[in-house]
Order: sequence, then structure tokens, then C-alpha cells
Amino acid sequence: MEISALQKARYEYAPKLPGMLRNGIADICVKEGEATASVADQDKIKALFPNTYGEKEITFEKGQNTSAPKKQVVGVILSGGQAPGGHNVICGLYDALKATNKENVLYGFKGGPSGLINDDYVEFDDEFINAYRNTGGFDIIGSGRTKLETEEQFAIVSEVCKKHGVTAVVIIGGDDSNTNAAVLAEYFAAHNTGVQVIGCPKTIDGDLKNEDIECSFGFDTATKTYSEIIGNIERDANSAKKYWHFVKVMGRSASHVALECALQTQPNICLISEEVAEKKMSLSQIADYIADSVANRAAKGMNFGVAIIPEGVVEFVPEFSVLIQEINELLAGSKADEFNALATWADKYAFIEKGLTKESMEVFAILPQAIQQQLFMERDPHGNVQVSLIESEKLFSSLVAAKLAERKAAGTYNGKFSALHHFLGYEGRCAFPSNFDSDYCYSLGYNAFMLIQYGYNGYLSKVSNLSKPANEWVAGGMPITKMMNIERRHGEDKPVIKKALVELDGAPFKFFEAHRAQWAEETCFVYPGAIQYYGPTEVCDATTKTLALEHAK
Ligand code: FBP
Repeated sequence: MEISALQKARYEYAPKLPGMLRNGIADICVKEGEATASVADQDKIKALFPNTYGEKEITFEKGQNTSAPKKQVVGVILSGGQAPGGHNVICGLYDALKATNKENVLYGFKGGPSGLINDDYVEFDDEFINAYRNTGGFDIIGSGRTKLETEEQFAIVSEVCKKHGVTAVVIIGGDDSNTNAAVLAEYFAAHNTGVQVIGCPKTIDGDLKNEDIECSFGFDTATKTYSEIIGNIERDANSAKKYWHFVKVMGRSASHVALECALQTQPNICLISEEVAEKKMSLSQIADYIADSVANRAAKGMNFGVAIIPEGVVEFVPEFSVLIQEINELLAGSKADEFNALATWADKYAFIEKGLTKESMEVFAILPQAIQQQLFMERDPHGNVQVSLIESEKLFSSLVAAKLAERKAAGTYNGKFSALHHFLGYEGRCAFPSNFDSDYCYSLGYNAFMLIQYGYNGYLSKVSNLSKPANEWVAGGMPITKMMNIERRHGEDKPVIKKALVELDGAPFKFFEAHRAQWAEETCFVYPGAIQYYGPTEVCDATTKTLALEHAK
């Protein structure tokens, strides 16, 4: 296989471990902290996890390794969407496992959680692992979105582990996958299988974080990749001075990615879904907010700008989510066939007009026709609207264009508005991991093995103090049950890891809020440029602004 010059060079990069893990396996000891309790609903979570609840937080320290010698056979899976650095988690895990005992074995189960069910695996060796060091992607074993959550699945996984003598499973995934990791850990403990489960926090969305997990891996690289592109677009906008760019960025529901990109690039506009929900903003209010920036800049002769739109924003607009619910009901069951049989869009529109409430029809009526049709045509296997497919960047630019036309007619705006659209998502998920993600991921994997070696079960690999240089990072583990609460999911009460949305009283949002009025009217663009892997530390090892602001002392 032909490889790029950068890939070749990155093979040689030695990821930085936290200081306490740098002295060699024989010199890593454990310090146990306090017993833990879940963040909420303690009694319910305790009842659901009788064998794994309340365990102690642990930290690794320099000192004699007292773990029991035991041959370890570890199985690892990658779960959910790709995130830069996943390969390094596996490399760190492999290196610690082999450094502890050459006889230890690491299996990679292929294609995500289903690999464990289908017993589809590879055994790693040096040559295999070396080809993936410090590279992006999840192609080492592939990933998937199958959920491991039923007793039936757990029984199969248990059999697969028994067959191969697997002593521990490492699940690299987001909040849902790590929730399921905790349930699997409890199952293994309850059935005395002796198999341990350790999770590693992954997702570019950045919404798996809490007082213990400072950030999920992949967020750093993905947001730097998007920020590079947004900065380049800003520079183009500032050069040509004739376009408004509407840039949608990934992040299924939380707006961490959009906010971080805004902090990096200082665009004229960045919507934050959590604020839209909090202020119960309507589509019209949002469009007016953007149109104000367009008009104010036009008055100064600047008919250009950049607006960042978070992927999930429309679901946070209250009137829009009511509309979606009504559409789902309108087409439930056989009514979808009746709708589909209608020959023309005019017939369909009349059907819709009859079925929606007056309020929702008002919202529907202001949408561009392409979005109206999207809402009715592209549906998931359950017949529901696929909100993630809505081209919200086009939706908002067209609503803004309509507002500006009204203002022009009223004589309050006299500029030019020409919009271009972009969606930044997949291009950030498999980039070569930044030095931060290379180091963080390798450390998470290395650390995960230490948790296995010391016999812990149902823990998340935890590396903290991440806003400081790597030698000051702190390595350890936290029981996953500590991060759980009960939430209503699909009509049932479920124990889940709490998803972290953008906090409107948090430092990153406060910083953005304090500056956005100026950014909206003036041109304050910042051009971060491409991720740098070699060069000055302040360029190559910088963390995200989010992390820096959250942990500024
Ligand atoms: P994870 O939560 O699994 O990490 O995935 C997040 C994400 O990248 C979102 O940002 C995006 O909305 C979604 O995955 C896209 O999913 P898919 O890869 O299935 O198209």
C-alpha cells in the first residue's frame, strides 16, 4: 500500500504519556480514592448495578507495581462514529499489554459491537499495530452502531469471551456505548465470568464530558480541522467581499463543535442550539438576528460574512420540534401510503395543510420548498423525519434572504446578499490526530490496560489535567456508574451517562457571548491554519479553547 510522506513521518512520533505512566510498567502503582455515588438517582442506579456500583475512584502513581501476574487476553471494539485518535487508543493498549507480558494477547473485534456478537476478530501483532500508529480513522478494525444492550447479546458475548479466554473487553465509544459498557460490566460481574470491561471516551461531538472526563477524544482534531476550513473561508470572504457563507458543522445535538470553531475563528455569527432552546427562539427570530448582522455590515460597505450553524439546531427550535412531531403523526401507519399516492406537490401540500395545526402550518409555510419536501420525503425506517438530513445552512440563508427582501421593500436595507453553503462533518472525523489527540488517545489506551491489570471492572479510562502539558496529566479510572442518571428514553426509564450540552453559564459560552456583538458587526476573523504536527509547542500542542477556558485558573 502506498502511504503519504506525512503518514510515514507520523509512524515515528512517540506519543507523550502522563508523567506518572512514564517510568515503565514495573513502576506504576494504584492510589484508591473515595467510594463513588452516581451524579443523580443514586438508589435506582445502585439497585440496577448491585455488583459494580459505588466503587472507588483510582489514580495511578509512580511506585512499585503490585498487580497480580496473570496472562491477559483483551478484546477491543470501536463503537459509533469515527473520531481521530481511535487507532492510538488501540496502540497504547497494545503497548502496555505487551510491555507487561509478551504472552498477553490483544484481539480487535471487527465492525463495532457486532464484531463481538459475530465473533469476527483479528489478533494484533507488532507489524499490524505499527501500520496504524498516529493515523486517523477507525479502519484498523472498523466501527459500527449496533448497540450491545440486551441480555441475549450479553450471553453471546460471554460465550465468545469464554471461547477465546478473553479476560477483559475495552469499549471505545461515546455516551451510549459507555453506558452499555457499564451494563455489560454488571452482567459479567453478576454472572461471575471474571471478564472485566473498561470504556474509553470517544466522540468528536464533545458531549461526553463531566466533572471527571474533561473531554472526549477526537474533539480536538475535528474542531481544528473545521476551524482551519472556516478560517480559510473567512479569508476568502474577506478577499472577495461578496459572499455570505453559511457553514453547518457536525455535532448531532450539542453545539460544542460550533462553539469551539467560533472561539477559534471569530465568525460574524454562530448559533448555539442550547441558547436557542433556552430563549425559545423561533425561526423568524433567528433569521432576524442573522439579518441584523448582514444589514449592519452592509451599511458599512461589507456585503460579506460567515455564519456557523450547528448540525442539530433545528431540533432545538421549539416551534420546529412541534412541527416535526406533527408531521410524524400525520404520516403514521397507513397515512403515509395515502400521502405518497398523491400525484403532485400541490395535492400533497393540501393534505399537509389539512393535517397540521394552524401554528405548525405557519412555521411550515415559511420554509423554502426544498426543505418542505425534504421533511416529507426522507424518512427513517420508523417513518420519522430525519432531522439530521435537513440542510439547515440553506434553511437559514433562505429565511435571512426573505427578511432582507422585506427590509429592502421597507427601505431599511440596501445591501447585496449572496449566500454560499458548506457542511463540515465527515472531513474532520478521520484526520491525522493532532498531537493532543495522539497523546491523549495513546494515554487512554495505555491507562485502560493498567486498569485491566489491576482488576478493575466497569471503569472509564480517565486522563485529566489536560489543559496542562502532558507530563502533568493525571491518569486513573472512574466507575462509569458515577456518571449515570436515570432518563426517559423511548418511553422507558433507563440508566444512562448524562449527555453534556453547552452550558450557558460555562466559561466558553460566556467568552463567546461577551465578544459576539463585536464579531457580528466588524471583521474580527482569525485564521487558525492547518493542524501542525512539527514545530513550536504553542502551535503544535495547543489544546482547544473550550478546554483552556473551562480549566483556566
Ligand atoms: P458518535 O456520537 O458516535 O461519536 O458520532 C457523532 C457523529 O459524528 C455526529 O457528529 C454526526 O451527527 C453523526 O455521528 C453522523 O453519523 P453517521 O456516521 O452514522 O453518519
